[in-house]
Amino acid sequence: MKAQVTAHARYTIGDIDKRLYGSFLEHLGRAVYTGIYEPGHPTADENGMRQDVLDLVRNLNTPICRYPGGNFVSAYNWEDGIGRKSDRPTRLDLAWRTAESNQVGIHEFADWAKAAETEMMLAVNLGSRGLDAARNFVEYVNHPGGSYWSDLRRKNGQADPWNVTLWCLGNEMDGPWQVGHKTAAEYGHLANETAKALRAFDDKLELVVCGSSHSDMPTYPQWEATVLEETYDQVDYISLHMYFENYEKKTSEFLALPEKLDRYIGTVSGVIDYVKAKKRSKKTVRISFDEWNVWYHERRSDAKRMKQWDWPHAPVLLEDVYNFEDVLQVGCILNTFIRRADVVRIACIAQLVNVIAPIMTAPGGAAWRQTIYYPFQFASNHGRGTALRLDVDCPRYDADVAADVSYLDIAGVHDADSGTLTFFAINRYGEEAMTIDLSIEGFGKARNVEHTLIKNDDLEASNTKEAPDTVTPIKIDGAKISDKGVEVTIPPYSYSMIRIK
Ligand code: AHR
Repeated sequence: MKAQVTAHARYTIGDIDKRLYGSFLEHLGRAVYTGIYEPGHPTADENGMRQDVLDLVRNLNTPICRYPGGNFVSAYNWEDGIGRKSDRPTRLDLAWRTAESNQVGIHEFADWAKAAETEMMLAVNLGSRGLDAARNFVEYVNHPGGSYWSDLRRKNGQADPWNVTLWCLGNEMDGPWQVGHKTAAEYGHLANETAKALRAFDDKLELVVCGSSHSDMPTYPQWEATVLEETYDQVDYISLHMYFENYEKKTSEFLALPEKLDRYIGTVSGVIDYVKAKKRSKKTVRISFDEWNVWYHERRSDAKRMKQWDWPHAPVLLEDVYNFEDVLQVGCILNTFIRRADVVRIACIAQLVNVIAPIMTAPGGAAWRQTIYYPFQFASNHGRGTALRLDVDCPRYDADVAADVSYLDIAGVHDADSGTLTFFAINRYGEEAMTIDLSIEGFGKARNVEHTLIKNDDLEASNTKEAPDTVTPIKIDGAKISDKGVEVTIPPYSYSMIRIK
């Protein structure tokens, strides 16, 4: 199969916000306890933070990490996680039917984030609580001193404020499963009043209002219109979530799902424009896609197990083991965000450790990379700069979710500082290799090309504690420099990163 791809220096989509490669850690299952935090683990520091996990996180180069939820945040009292650890209460977490020991709270997470070289993106509880708890939390986190909450933070050992700028106004408030679920009008009003209060404290905060939990929600996209009509002047981003499922085990259908993601982004972008026009506003709200990933491997069995258990602390939950097929999907999702970088400014892989995550740990034992670690790591490290508007000519197929799905999924990024062009290419065709004639007009002649490939003949191949390197990237030769750019051949069902200097 052949594909013709043209990149031109003048055809750009826009600058990529580095926060497109954000991540997410929720108090859920073993994400925190025995994930990032495990006192007594051979690699734990004096604060109980696992250094083996921190190394893997740092290598992802994720610039922000959303915390503490997720569904968890909607019944969370942030004050439970401050002060002497021995005085902190154990609470029942209604979202996941577990016990929360509160041994990790905002201080511990802030120290961890600093060590992980990532910025905090914090969520406030607009489910069981509201404006008052939110404003107190922001004062605790961001005020230098001389007030009740900031002095309490100082007394608890943190003299300097953390100065967190990015705040989520609740989580998935459109979902009936959410503690404190609301109608769009109720939520819009609360979010707007909360945003006004937070802005009265600091008008430089960047605020994220909840959009739909996914595009199959019955309230989508009216939810976005109603919520934005209430909040447009006070917020900077609207959050969207989407998880990708493959219960039918049909690769061509599974890999077409990013088309649905693209439509979702396009529709919400249209709703933003509609409300902007209605408000006669100069400001443009952008999208924060702050939960996305493949999630189906353990989803149904977890839902059953959860109903039966007796409020365990940090149980195994949502520990999907990712396979090679998921590498292709994660690659296509990230490419979609790059191609929509003008409207999607923030995106967070959900999640980071153990819970539907690129990093897994064994309690007391090893930490390893799941298969999906690699496409995320490559995009995060090399997908920064200017997103390119590519012209792609290649065979297409019809899927249930969309017609005319290109067998080649490709995104291109120009990093002007290093003078590098990076292309992420997924061959969605399983029967044949694909030769890509990649022309790079207006960028000068290619001098050097590097091709990194992830390929396994078994779509189900995964990385486990026993065999952590079953699916790993390799560098391959064969890419040829041509007059107009490069020619590169990618195997059937494969992920490639092609870097040209
Ligand atoms: O990431 C797992 C859960 O998925 C989050 O808690 C929730 O926001 C979403 O439904």
